[in-house]
Amino acid sequence: MPTIKDSELAEGSMKAVRLKGKPILLVKFGGEVYGVSNYCPHAGCTFQGGILTGCIVMCPCHGWKFDVRNGQYQEIPQVKLDCYRCKIENGKIYVEIPRG
Ligand code: FES
Repeated sequence: MPTIKDSELAEGSMKAVRLKGKPILLVKFGGEVYGVSNYCPHAGCTFQGGILTGCIVMCPCHGWKFDVRNGQYQEIPQVKLDCYRCKIENGKIYVEIPRG
């Protein structure tokens, strides 16, 4: 489903959106847009205000770091954020939300 304009998300930045009730963090890295759940599995913080370094977002609450390309927590790869497939089309960012 369509979200924000592509021009609203600069390279190397992130933006929080809510789609079908799900909090999602959009990140642009290397010209691609990645979507992950905007809910830290450690203690439930959101990632706005955290630090984005390349494709790694650091949670602002206690510093857990996640790779937005696959959602993996850097210390324990089995701990993952949900990932949402994104594409840029006609100047807009689209996010695929699985049914259910
Ligand atoms: S809530 Fe994210 S690191 Fe603690």
